[in-house]
Amino acid sequence: GLDDPALKALLLGNVGSLTPENALKWDATEPAGGRFSLEAMDRLLAFSARHRLALRGHTLVWHQQLPAWLDGLPAPQLRAALERHVRTLVGYGRGRIQSWDVINEPIDPEGQGLRRSLWLDTLGPAYIADALRWARQADPAARLLINDYGLEGDDPQTARKRVAMLQLVDDLKRRGVPLDGIGLQAHLLAPAEGSPTFRTLPVFLAELRRRGLQVEITELDVSDRLLPADTAQRDRRVADTYDAFLKAVLQEPALRRITSWGLSDRDSWLNTTFPRPDGLPQRPLPYDEALRPKPARSSIAERLQSITPPR
Ligand code: G3I
Repeated sequence: GLDDPALKALLLGNVGSLTPENALKWDATEPAGGRFSLEAMDRLLAFSARHRLALRGHTLVWHQQLPAWLDGLPAPQLRAALERHVRTLVGYGRGRIQSWDVINEPIDPEGQGLRRSLWLDTLGPAYIADALRWARQADPAARLLINDYGLEGDDPQTARKRVAMLQLVDDLKRRGVPLDGIGLQAHLLAPAEGSPTFRTLPVFLAELRRRGLQVEITELDVSDRLLPADTAQRDRRVADTYDAFLKAVLQEPALRRITSWGLSDRDSWLNTTFPRPDGLPQRPLPYDEALRPKPARSSIAERLQSITPPR
């Protein structure tokens, strides 16, 4: 993306912070045990320094995009591999990566406690506290986050995931584990009917603040897969969903940053993972596939201007 001049211009005109979608994940950074491949990280660090952008680290401990060499390692070796991975990446970015998604998606999708994964199954729940402690030691200044999805809506499954997240947070805090905040991915879905609502979200954010935590929105986008084909209608309803969401989060004093998962519809992950039933490409981001601004871009700009003076 950074090599494409048009996209680069769009990026520099719109954002103050960068998150790589894939370049810092385990399969990319440590393809063989102990053999780190940090050229992409070097490029990102240089680019963000040159353009005075903050850089976010995504992500250290996840159940996806893991290299095959981790499979089947006995617990002591897996724990040692985790420690080496966390210390190496966070240490390498020390003073240069502002916040890290240390733990990604640890909550069970149905909200029944922690998610089953290589990490939980082999190391037990201690992998979370261990990774956070190693990250803190490797860069005491970096903001350390637990990042997850499905925490934004008003449905019962979201309510269960929030309870599980707060239980995890309380348990970590009680034991003095370093944790600075929670990342809400915010992969949103424009509703098929009616207006988008985020009635319960401000309450959840206040619960996090009361626990001394900061909040980042880390992967914001709005899927239009439930909406009819008409482009203007889709763009309007996606923009309305951005508007309602931002209205719900921008009033929260613990909010530190909002990151969208891409800028242009051309590059969205949604088309491979959640294709529309009619096969049309989704339009989830602020700019269309030709990098032209959409109604979503105006909704976002208006909401942001309501809290900050325009640049
Ligand atoms: O790099 C290879 C390329 O060499 C190969 O030719 C091509 C063919 O499939 O695949 C390329 O890798 C793909 C990679 O994106 C880069 O485009 C992977 O197959 C594909 O699985 C990967 O998808 C990423 C996905 O995470 C993996 O789960 C998406 O780009 C990325 O946006 C997405 O991001 C996640 C966050 O990390 C966590 N939260 C959810 C979010 C959306 O799934």
